Amino acid sequence: MYKINDNYLKLPGSYLFSTIGKKVNAFATANPDKKIIRLGIGDVTLPLAPAVIDAFHKAVDEMAVKETFMGYAPDLGYEFLRSAIAKNDFEARGVKIDIDEIFVSDGAKSDSGNIGDIFSVDNKIAVCDPVYPVYVDTNAMAGRTGVFDAATERWTNVIYMPCTAETNFAPELPAETPDIIYLCFPNNPTGATINKDELQKWVDYANKVGAVIIYDAAYEAYISEDDVPHTIYECKDAKGCAIEIRSFSKNAGFTGTRLGYTVVPKELKCGDVSLNSLWARRHGTKFNGAPYITQRAGEAVYSPEGKKQTAEQVAYYMNNAKVIKNGLESAGYTVSGGVNAPYIWLKTPNNMTSWQFFDYLLEELNIVGTPGSGFGPSGEGYFRLTAFGTYENTLEAIERIKNA
Ligand code: MLT
Repeated sequence: MYKINDNYLKLPGSYLFSTIGKKVNAFATANPDKKIIRLGIGDVTLPLAPAVIDAFHKAVDEMAVKETFMGYAPDLGYEFLRSAIAKNDFEARGVKIDIDEIFVSDGAKSDSGNIGDIFSVDNKIAVCDPVYPVYVDTNAMAGRTGVFDAATERWTNVIYMPCTAETNFAPELPAETPDIIYLCFPNNPTGATINKDELQKWVDYANKVGAVIIYDAAYEAYISEDDVPHTIYECKDAKGCAIEIRSFSKNAGFTGTRLGYTVVPKELKCGDVSLNSLWARRHGTKFNGAPYITQRAGEAVYSPEGKKQTAEQVAYYMNNAKVIKNGLESAGYTVSGGVNAPYIWLKTPNNMTSWQFFDYLLEELNIVGTPGSGFGPSGEGYFRLTAFGTYENTLEAIERIKNA
């Protein structure tokens, strides 16, 4: 008789955004006349930039001709894309990353879930609380988190690093030593950032205790302040302890077309074993590459027009962030984030729980957001709004909240 991976049975409920999607669909079905404004999941609304679309069209045409047709992509991704990444995302910031340290993928969500494959089940993870749920859920699926304690809403074998108003929503070095540390800056869900000196402390700590940092930099394009690092490799000795995950979803609108990459430096070693080789083995065996047409479109993000057009998109969303932040503040809410990130983190009013506020916004104002407690126990009493809606809908949502 076969056996299932019963770690899945330990997972409470469904994936956060699936739960929200079901609730919203049920409300929409029961209330077909209501105009629901969705500021919940961080999904973009602007169409792909013209330079990206041109590259897609051109690549599709190439696929229609025998001489230019492309089959399986190379294991690590096409060199044209990895070279553009190395030059623009790293060299331009004074960081040297070789193209064989870059692994192109179908997105940061998959990579942040899959990266656990190369680590022993015996490792203890440390996560920010609140946190992007994929890190914890995928470790739970792998059997690395112990069991879920419903009373504390915590896994028994996870080190939680509370990110609260008292810590400016940044984690502090944990009292217990972890093996794998997940960091995401600019942060999802709180929109908080840390400066380079603060990130350097994490790198020094990881190198000292022999931990590896999984650094999710999916929101890097939204950084507006000077002292916020764009990549962890701006920090000294980070190549000896950090893996960085990047996305094309948020900086260039690829949520529906899927593209991302992970950097695993060759210096990163566990004893004599190179993590780069392990991830290359995993990538080669379990993944057949992002489509050629998508990789060509990704390359176009780094063209002069692509850079200009995607920067305009980021500015559009950051203007939404400003509308949300200023509007909520003028309505008396306590708000953070939204300066270096497309997420606004607000304190729920009148001591409502996160889910009570979710229900209130959905049912009374027909606005969808994300309950802070869905990201972890320290998110209770908080709520996340995304700046990825249209400007018109964002404005209307804030007007509804202000007039409530
Ligand atoms: C979010 O809303 O947290 C993100 O869109 C989820 C993701 O990028 O997978």
